[in-house]
Amino acid sequence: MATVGRDIASVELTEREHWEDGPPLSVFKEMRRGCPIHWTESFEEFPEEAGFWSVTTAEDVHTVSRDWKTYSSEAGGVVAAAAGFPIELARAMFIGMDPPKHDRLKALFQAGFTPKRIADHEGAIREIATGVLDRIKGRERCDLVTDVAQPVVSRVIGSFMGIPEEDDAIWARLMNSTLGAADPDLNPAGFEGAVEKDVPEIFERCRKLIAARQERPTDDLTTVLVQAEVYGEKLEEHEIVMGFFLLVAAGNDSTKATYCSGMRALMEDPEQMQLLLDDPALIPDAVEEALRMFPAFAHFRRTATCDAELHGQKIKQGDKVVMWYVSSNRDETRYEDPDRFDLRRKAEHQAFGAGGRHFCLGTALARLELKVLFEETLARYPRIALAGSPAHAESLFLNQLKTLPVRLAP
Ligand code: HEM
Repeated sequence: MATVGRDIASVELTEREHWEDGPPLSVFKEMRRGCPIHWTESFEEFPEEAGFWSVTTAEDVHTVSRDWKTYSSEAGGVVAAAAGFPIELARAMFIGMDPPKHDRLKALFQAGFTPKRIADHEGAIREIATGVLDRIKGRERCDLVTDVAQPVVSRVIGSFMGIPEEDDAIWARLMNSTLGAADPDLNPAGFEGAVEKDVPEIFERCRKLIAARQERPTDDLTTVLVQAEVYGEKLEEHEIVMGFFLLVAAGNDSTKATYCSGMRALMEDPEQMQLLLDDPALIPDAVEEALRMFPAFAHFRRTATCDAELHGQKIKQGDKVVMWYVSSNRDETRYEDPDRFDLRRKAEHQAFGAGGRHFCLGTALARLELKVLFEETLARYPRIALAGSPAHAESLFLNQLKTLPVRLAP
């Protein structure tokens, strides 16, 4: 990493060289120590984009996350570089709204996402996971990202949304190319390609599904969106489309990312792997540690609605403020030896956000999917091992492996 000999305050976090192998953890470590609220001036790819403040410690991420009046999700979008993603679309998703509209819309879904309601889906999720694992039966090697994680998470969120199974792969491709737009493998057509081709295709496919639900409602989440009323009014079509996009995108990328990085950590640490093989009841602890070390989204962003001060740093109205979970989850004031995967740690983390209004809707679903995926994979392949070099998606936002080659059995 090219920060040696440079003042950490002058580092441009967005330089591509920092992100070639995943988030620049050593840069974040220096920031936490020497410049916890750090300014990056510009984006290589988007010269028009304004710079941003990076918030790197757990305490400061907590402060920003909880103070939605000062740090708005609606004022400027929820990712560091909003270029190419029109602000009206960001604001059409409840993740991009502030209260009170945010709270009303989220409430429509919350009842279906409680741990108790989600637990009812365990059998169906296990069936999906075992079905996918059946497809690789007899093979010596596979890619855990594309052969296991992707098809499982796509079918789980697909079944919640009412997507036909034969369309899972298409939706996965569309989500990967739009969310992972900076990565040449996830999005071979480049930013323009994603905006010109994939985004319209998402809209077109959504419109068809929405029309079908308007004609014949079912018990899926697309129907919830179609029937939703906020302040006595139905959602506009672009709000339904973007609500659908939010749920499919969140369900597609997140669990896949944490499962694969967690599996990699276990394969790289035989002692931790053995703990789980000896006692599978520890799997939920491994899930939490995987979430801490490998939060699926590297950051979410806010915009300051007024002049403020954070950790002694003056923030001006309109400034972008980026909460880096990949940093706060390794804050050494909270975690001893934070870069070590230790499932006995039982530590809280900020992978799902830091307790504010936008705290992840899908926590119970994600935890259940991860538990089932770890359980079923390890039960079938206790001697699973790395069989090549894993590669990280190049992205300031998605913290995920795009390939993880493994040997399934010796
Ligand atoms: C490993 C799995 C997951 C991680 C690490 C994760 C992480 C996050 C984070 C950090 C946020 C906060 C965004 C912010 O503060 O602006 C969030 C919000 C959200 N997540 Fe997740 N998520 C995961 C899985 C899921 C799943 C499976 C769903 C399923 C539908 C989901 C749906 C959502 C939604 C709808 C929001 C917006 C909540 C709001 O604005 O109030 N997430 N997630």
